Amino acid sequence: MSFRERLKNYYFIFIGLIPSFFLVFLSLNLIMKITRSVKPAYIDTYKSIFKNRRFNKYNILEIGIGGHDLEHYKGGSLLMWKHYFLFSNIYGLDIIDKNYNIFPRIRSFVGSQTDETTLNNILANIKKVDIIIDDGSHYLDHIFFSFKYLFDHLSDDGIYIIEDIKMPYLKSLEDTPLDKITNPGLFFNNLIHRINSSKFGEIVDDYYINNIKRVICKDQQIIIYKGKRNSKKLLNKFPSNKTKDGYIKISDKLNNN
Ligand SMILES: C[S@@+](CC[C@H](N)C(=O)[O-])C[C@H]1O[C@@H](n2cnc3c(N)ncnc32)[C@H](O)[C@@H]1O
Repeated sequence: MSFRERLKNYYFIFIGLIPSFFLVFLSLNLIMKITRSVKPAYIDTYKSIFKNRRFNKYNILEIGIGGHDLEHYKGGSLLMWKHYFLFSNIYGLDIIDKNYNIFPRIRSFVGSQTDETTLNNILANIKKVDIIIDDGSHYLDHIFFSFKYLFDHLSDDGIYIIEDIKMPYLKSLEDTPLDKITNPGLFFNNLIHRINSSKFGEIVDDYYINNIKRVICKDQQIIIYKGKRNSKKLLNKFPSNKTKDGYIKISDKLNNN
């Protein structure tokens, strides 16, 4: 290890071992800077999502710890979350052994986000998971695999965040229940489409539509809020073959003119 890398290592260890309570007055921006986390593109979003959650006791899992060598610490987001969420436990998963296990309230796991045994082992160890951030391989099929596997295990009010998603935007969307979609690009496009359109009916019920209350799509980032919705009430409010209370269907009106 070079002298420079050794210094970086000591810096990370020092920052990681500072009691988080000493940093309680620091903003997320400042914590990001001192932990050298590489999330400036998302920091404003995180500030708004997490501002009322800082003192909650969560289990947070980040897929992808960062850095590509074993010799010194990199990817400070585990440290950032630890110092920001004062009472939460932070878990990291990486395909390379990053050994983040020397810091209080942080534990790292080694394995792929596409490996069921690895994901099962994490779930068995941490019991419940409240926030998941996928900043791993960024391959769509990997993102999709982890989401499909982990979403069910997310706590009832949990949040699932996918970073750096470059999904294809399609010209037309067919209405297919999400459980039946196997293409990840189509899945996330349809998820947004179905959450947005469910109030107007004419969509088929599925597991995700009943268990996701909000989807926010930012530049290369998708934020999925888990929560029960009674879609039965929402579905078929305006069945396509009849008008309700004298409403004239816009399409009929347009056709008649
Ligand atoms: C962009 S970096 C993560 C940066 C870090 N989250 C941060 O904000 O500082 C991506 C990480 O994902 C890891 N990775 C790549 N493929 C993976 C896979 N299939 N499963 C788990 N981790 C993976 C890489 O080793 C790398 O450390």
